[in-house]
Amino acid sequence: MHRYYVLVWVVWILVPFGAHSKNKASDKWLDNAIQRSEKQLLLAAENFKDSGKNPRTFEHGKVELVTERDWTSGFFPGSLWYVYELTGNTSLKTEAARFTSFVENAKFRTNTHDLGFILNCSYGNAYRLTANEAYKEVMITGANTLMKRYNPKVGMIRSWDFGKWQFPVIIDNMLNLEYLYVVGKMTGNQQMLDAAVSHADKTLVNHFRADNSCVHVVDFDTITAKVILKQTHQGYSDESSWARGQAWALYGYTMMYRFTQKPAYLAQAEKVAAFILNHPRLPKDKIPYWDFDAPNIPNEPRDASAAAVNASALLELSTYVPGNKTYFRAAETILKNLSSDKYLAEAGENGFFILKHSTGNWPKNSEIDTPLSYADYYFVESLLRYKQLKNI
Ligand code: GLY
Repeated sequence: MHRYYVLVWVVWILVPFGAHSKNKASDKWLDNAIQRSEKQLLLAAENFKDSGKNPRTFEHGKVELVTERDWTSGFFPGSLWYVYELTGNTSLKTEAARFTSFVENAKFRTNTHDLGFILNCSYGNAYRLTANEAYKEVMITGANTLMKRYNPKVGMIRSWDFGKWQFPVIIDNMLNLEYLYVVGKMTGNQQMLDAAVSHADKTLVNHFRADNSCVHVVDFDTITAKVILKQTHQGYSDESSWARGQAWALYGYTMMYRFTQKPAYLAQAEKVAAFILNHPRLPKDKIPYWDFDAPNIPNEPRDASAAAVNASALLELSTYVPGNKTYFRAAETILKNLSSDKYLAEAGENGFFILKHSTGNWPKNSEIDTPLSYADYYFVESLLRYKQLKNI
């Protein structure tokens, strides 16, 4: 009898310890990724704080710093906010506020659709974490500026002003809808919400192919609202599946489902996820080559930025399809691989960026196998989402 009670006692005491240490061991990669992200961001902040600019990439041995005129300028401050949220390190908060202020003037830019990327990632996170009204004002001004690019006839937001297109809309533009939704809800601006839904509805009809992959650019006629042409700008060919384009689509429809609960958006997100995750040329580590149809796979550069966007979107998608473990597991695989030494930079190297091996613009021979600020942003966003979902 006595021996039985001793055994129960030993099991009672030791099992939780065993489970605890197993959890601890399996989350080591996560702690390491967060710590390295924190170090790299603080080093970057220290090195660039007097420049008035934000880091974009590290190419040919040099860090490229950009102003609010560049579509990537909001990602570095956004990463600072996320890692401040992950760690509670107030130095990150101070730097986040500083680098966020560098992009304020984007709120007046009428010549781009990228205001969501620029202002929601920086000011959006700033306002979410501090509730400071000054951040809110920038958010509202910028979103009203973005609405000037909405064409009611086409029912979409125009992406670019350069080039020969009449009214080009790129799949990337889906991400800017988050900004319109956040500000639309914040201010009760129904026109903003309707514009976002209309844009997502038209993209769903026009950007996707029968196999649920998407094209990069669709050009519309502003008189008839009809499609003029479909082509690529950063992918391998007009018929190919540019990896980051697919990632933007996955993220875009998952995020729009969050706001609208429209079943069509969830269905589209699941279709895109299936296209990506079941693709025969997606490597085992789930870090895609820069284009699923790049001609020399497996001897093609990877795109860690597409992988990071996918990971973040899949984590969110996993919460909308209870019982489905595929999305969470795929995201976990991506994050563990991005957190390995192959992709995660050592502190002080890689121009102080967190991740290595992204591809920015292959057709232009630009930013091939380099770090990119948006790879880092969606990576740290994913780490936060992962931590929250696992409740650790
Ligand atoms: N939004 C531009 C890109 O994904 O490269």
